[in-house]
Amino acid sequence: MRILVTGGAGFIGSNFVNATARTRGGVEITVLDAFTYAGSRSSLSAVCDAVKVVEGDITDVALVNELVSGSDVVVHFAAESHNDNSLADPWPFVQTNVIGTYTLLEAVRRYDVRYHHVSTDEVYGDLALDDPTKFTDRTPYNPSSPYSSTKAASDMLVRAWVRSFGVQATLSNCSNNYGPYQHIEKFIPRQITNILLGARPKLYGAGKNVRDWIHVEDHNTAVWRILESGSIGRTYLIGANGELDNQSVVRMILELMGRDPGDFEHVIDRPGHDMRYAIDSSTMRDELGWHPHYTNFREGLQATIDWYRDNRNWWENDKDAVEARYQAQGA
Ligand code: NAD
Ligand code: TYD
Repeated sequence: MRILVTGGAGFIGSNFVNATARTRGGVEITVLDAFTYAGSRSSLSAVCDAVKVVEGDITDVALVNELVSGSDVVVHFAAESHNDNSLADPWPFVQTNVIGTYTLLEAVRRYDVRYHHVSTDEVYGDLALDDPTKFTDRTPYNPSSPYSSTKAASDMLVRAWVRSFGVQATLSNCSNNYGPYQHIEKFIPRQITNILLGARPKLYGAGKNVRDWIHVEDHNTAVWRILESGSIGRTYLIGANGELDNQSVVRMILELMGRDPGDFEHVIDRPGHDMRYAIDSSTMRDELGWHPHYTNFREGLQATIDWYRDNRNWWENDKDAVEARYQAQGA
């Protein structure tokens, strides 16, 4: 199988490429990645001999056509992925998430190539803290931010290309991922690296917002399960029953790193901040027989802390720029 992985140098994509190269000998992997601030060659250093890496943009029609025509499967991870950046400048989100997905869809349509679209639960908007329901594939789309609205738009394009043109596509909407190789602008690695450098964790607002955490490796085993057994045109929700409020996560990180669990600071809240995400992943479990391996968040978090402690070279050079960006936002 020849697989084209867009965004394979980013957080989830690089974990997918590393795991696939390690465990699936028959798969020939090509990565297409623009190496924005979020992509890193060093995330692929363990597999660089086994993987072809192409630096390029998913909006480049000629390049995308060339790579898609030589592939059996496309797994599309590439995106602008950070909500805070989308509030500061939405344009790259429209360009990459919408036009980039359109470009890939036209190519898989032309060359009749199987396509899997990686998306987020944020397309559904948010839930109240006391709402007993979770997101399902029947929940209406109601995105809040430029990030989530461009991801929602890309999902809609995929659905339309399946129905109108018979494109062989599946979709997945996953909850918040954590694990190694996540950019330090994101919540968990930002706090871990702050503590490693002697700074205090920063909690937006009161910190009551809830995210439904899943280890990145579990997300990727679910993507493989969909590639192998999913039904064309279907949307699969991926989650690991990992709901926790942000303040509890910060306290757990501090405690696991041997610090006072109360030693964090509150900073200005994110405009339009979604309150709660929660995924009902029963279709993945009941129909596709998928189950998460990392069911103990505390253990997964400890392993993630250890990874950032042991891999300072991977993140250290980015820290000043990331924190300067946050400081400009008062966060
Ligand atoms: P990331 O920001 O870590 O990585 C994105 C990658 O895409 C980077 O390597 C970047 O260089 C590349 N890229 C960006 N624009 C590009 C372009 N125009 N052409 C080619 N490459 C480009 O993101 P991530 O957290 O790994 O997310 C991957 C996918 O998973 C995204 O589609 C995201 O919406 C989705 N997702 C993420 C989460 C999460 O918690 N991180 C949860 C659910 C779904
Ligand atoms: P984030 O990692 O940006 O993911 P998303 O916005 O896609 O859920 O943030 C996760 C949660 O953590 C979100 O509720 C915002 C909050 N947050 C903080 O409290 N402090 C921070 O420094 C960051 C980056 C996020």
